[in-house]
Amino acid sequence: MIQVAVFGYGTVGSGVVEVIEKNKEMVNKKSGEELNVKYILDLRDFPGDPYENKVVHDVDVILNDPDVNIICETMGGVEPAYTFSKRALMSGKSVCTSNKELVANHGPELIRLAKENNCNYLFEASVGGGIPIIRPLNYSLTAEKIEAVTGILNGTTNYILTKMEQEGADFADVLKEAQEKGYAEKDPTADIEGYDACRKIAILSSLMTGKNVKYEDVYTEGITKISAADFAYAKKLGRSIKLLAMSKELANDETLAMVSPFMIDAEHPLHMVNGVFNAVFVRGNMLGDSMYYGRGAGKLPTASAVVSDVVDCARHMGKTIMCFWDAEDVKLAGIETVSRPFFVRVGETDAAKVQELFGNVEKVKADGLEDEFAFITETMTEKEFAEKAAKLSDMRSRIRVENV
Ligand code: HSE
Repeated sequence: MIQVAVFGYGTVGSGVVEVIEKNKEMVNKKSGEELNVKYILDLRDFPGDPYENKVVHDVDVILNDPDVNIICETMGGVEPAYTFSKRALMSGKSVCTSNKELVANHGPELIRLAKENNCNYLFEASVGGGIPIIRPLNYSLTAEKIEAVTGILNGTTNYILTKMEQEGADFADVLKEAQEKGYAEKDPTADIEGYDACRKIAILSSLMTGKNVKYEDVYTEGITKISAADFAYAKKLGRSIKLLAMSKELANDETLAMVSPFMIDAEHPLHMVNGVFNAVFVRGNMLGDSMYYGRGAGKLPTASAVVSDVVDCARHMGKTIMCFWDAEDVKLAGIETVSRPFFVRVGETDAAKVQELFGNVEKVKADGLEDEFAFITETMTEKEFAEKAAKLSDMRSRIRVENV
């Protein structure tokens, strides 16, 4: 029997226990051995909970128990999850986590510790919730050189943008409604400013390159400046606006990693990803394009990914599954040299300036926005665009345009 402990009995942690219990027969069969949740670590007590007698408050009870083989770390945050995970790995216990913050901050060290102690540090649930994406990158697409990964990696912002698009509503109103319905946190900063997606793309980008991508160095822009007016033009143009997290290998051995709202056309594979759903679009040099789609958050989808890692650990007891994520930092490209078209909204008073700076662009008008127009520039570098944009006197918004 393989003994499992769950660190943190919140939404995901209780989901892990539920998945192991509900899918017991299947999970045990796939593990090749019976799994048993022996302990649940939490500061709180859970009177009346069917697993209340498994709850312990002292991590040492678990870490000093030689029978425990696998830890599910669903605490979130860096500390004490980091210390507990290190101690578990150093005592040969595998750790399966949903904690993107910890993985983004200390991934290479924890992977190395697992290797040194013949166990595993697995993190399928840290990106894309229930969507299998770590495993495909790590050991399904092993014949590929992955050239680019582009994802909608945050359900909250995708929900907000979809609502804005469907209802013509403004950002602040949709955010408020999303908070009331529980789709957005009381403090939504990490989601709406793109920080959550930034950590996730840093993880995917590290697996893509095999080196370390520091999330602090990833250019990150959130969705707070996107307005109903932007969507009115997007509709006219047959496009959508999505918060994309992307990572691309550039020709000069550098990697571009960034998070930003992008205007994408109907041909783009991520165009149809709506609401709370996430998707990751992967470009390999042999396979070409493949896409992974599903629920990127929520109790059972995320718990399902954690349990899939538990099964993998159970199948590889005493062995470390290869994971290529070195501590060496990747060479990240500055975004100023990257080229793309830009969507721009300006006041009518800037019309002559637009022609002088951007040439004969096609002017787009939207209903009810008489004193302004929009246009899409030619492909140009971020630097060139910023220099031209600085010369406009009434630029109302600019959104990067991404073509497939
Ligand atoms: N806040 C995240 C989201 C939760 O909205 O996608 C999953 O990481």
